[in-house]
Amino acid sequence: MSADAVSPLNPTLRATADASAPVGIFDSGLGGLSVLRAVRAVLPHERIVYVADSLHAPYGEKDDDFIVDRTTAICEWLVAQGAKALVVACNTATAQSIALVRERLAIPLVGVEPGVKPAAVVSKSRVVGVLATQVTLRSARFQALLDPYAGDCRFMLQPGHGLVRAVERCDTSSPQLMALLESYLAPMLDAGADTLVLGCTHYPFLDRAIREIAGERLQLVDTSVAIARQLDRLLDTNHLKNDAPPDAMPRFCSTADGESQRQLAASLLQLNATVEHVFIPSHRMRLPEPDIV
Ligand code: DGL
Repeated sequence: MSADAVSPLNPTLRATADASAPVGIFDSGLGGLSVLRAVRAVLPHERIVYVADSLHAPYGEKDDDFIVDRTTAICEWLVAQGAKALVVACNTATAQSIALVRERLAIPLVGVEPGVKPAAVVSKSRVVGVLATQVTLRSARFQALLDPYAGDCRFMLQPGHGLVRAVERCDTSSPQLMALLESYLAPMLDAGADTLVLGCTHYPFLDRAIREIAGERLQLVDTSVAIARQLDRLLDTNHLKNDAPPDAMPRFCSTADGESQRQLAASLLQLNATVEHVFIPSHRMRLPEPDIV
């Protein structure tokens, strides 16, 4: 993806330097709610605006340009809403676009990556499963993450086709989902894996299903708390930490109808949320400036 392939983010948009401003968190869909849960636990005083691009999920089945285009459009939208910092709570969007967003947008920014390093540290059998989207697994960023550990640890890379779609419909336990998950986990268990990297922010919502299949044989590596701590450090360094009383409810936004987000927030986060429908046009969809003749 060349830097010129999307319109540049509006250079007049700068993150607000106001500590009471919200943190923007975004994901292709509902997976980022697992990161939001950790951010609320680590940083209870922070206000949050969450965007689920559920109209366009799963990103893991889209081409690279599409993912870059949506990521930049949503980051720009969050800054326009007054965000003081951003969390790209999507491994797939991070893998494809974080460097570009960092380059184009002056805002403290945290991305997420599969927890390859912590998995390599804790695995005793030296066989580690990695469940992530196809886009994440084939990205140069992921390969670079893997390289330093691939010498003394066997990583079994498994694209989680179908899993994001299941979570997007709030399916975390149907027989079809269990069968799909089992087909991904069985070869890892047979090969002696003792650790599983949840390389997509949707997958922590499948932890119970994974436990049902694998029992205690797999330690699950979920990086959401590490991401929240990284955000904490970044806000601190930039003097942007909010010290007001805890904010009651994040602002939840969705590019789709928001019904699944409302359900998942209620069942898995115990939050009785109202979800705003938002329209965030892609850069590619914007009409070109008229020619001046
Ligand atoms: N939660 C996203 C991730 O972490 C899911 C990607 C998708 O929409 O396929 O990769």
